[in-house]
Amino acid sequence: MEYAKTDTPAIEVRDLRFSYPDGRAALAGASFTVHQGESVALIGANGTGKSTLLLCLVGILKGSGTVYVLGTEVNSETVFAVRSRIGFVFQNPEHQLFSTSVLDDIVFGPLNLGLSREESLTRADAVLGELNMTEFKHRIPHHLSQGEKKKVALATALAMNPSVLLLDEPTAGLDPRSSTQLIDILLRLKDEGKTMLVATHDMHLAEEVTERVIVLGESRTVVREGVPGDILTDESFLRQHNLIHEHCHIHERTRHGHPHFHRHHEDNHIHPHL
Ligand SMILES: Nc1ncnc2c1ncn2[C@@H]1O[C@H](COP(=O)(O)OP(=O)(O)O)[C@@H](O)[C@H]1O
Ligand SMILES: [Mg+2]
Repeated sequence: MEYAKTDTPAIEVRDLRFSYPDGRAALAGASFTVHQGESVALIGANGTGKSTLLLCLVGILKGSGTVYVLGTEVNSETVFAVRSRIGFVFQNPEHQLFSTSVLDDIVFGPLNLGLSREESLTRADAVLGELNMTEFKHRIPHHLSQGEKKKVALATALAMNPSVLLLDEPTAGLDPRSSTQLIDILLRLKDEGKTMLVATHDMHLAEEVTERVIVLGESRTVVREGVPGDILTDESFLRQHNLIHEHCHIHERTRHGHPHFHRHHEDNHIHPHL
């Protein structure tokens, strides 16, 4: 399905603050906008509030400030209507998969939206096909590998045909091949124009899949926004915000420090880090 890229906000966050019951501020006044059809990375070191922010967007956590999703303010009255239009993929697929078959997990969302069993099954088949996972249809989610579980978790969100997709660390804990497969899937969704907000500290993912980057800092606020080409090449900024670390590897017989995620596009090759 094609989605038009527009200047219409899909997500608007204004001065969002949230503290956990122990009093620690997880978000201290974050503000940003994601437009319809945009694919945006929310990056920040561990503990800067990325997951908390996504949970506020779907009303699982309630902070102060305002959150608008698709023009509707998220509050106790609107939260269920808003959730029906957002696909949320938790970092940990165990939080998302609870049925005894992949198919049952995938039809759960569409059935909940009020679709008939037949329509829900058609959607499940379509999504499984798109993700190249048809053979997993009757498997037990609990028995799958981490990468397979992550893909099934994404399938459960996509089956609801959401207008906005929120993903929390989609590549965390995946081996390189599963990670590449997931990035390819997200790239396809981006090219289709799906609105996506991807929380990650995987700079490869941010670089490849998104067209804008929003950075949360240790201040728990947005410290910078911009295109990946500007932010992800600013090594001192990334180091300052604990997003890359120097480590040494050998490149063309020279030993030198290098940002962790860097790829040598100009040489048209990717080389492993030592
Ligand atoms: N359930 C919780 N109770 C108390 N503090 C929490 C809880 N979840 C997260 N935090 C704290 O809130 C801050 C932001 O966490 P989180 O949103 O998970 O960050 P990120 O996803 O960027 O790693 C961290 O300091 C973390 O320790
Ligand atoms: Mg997190």
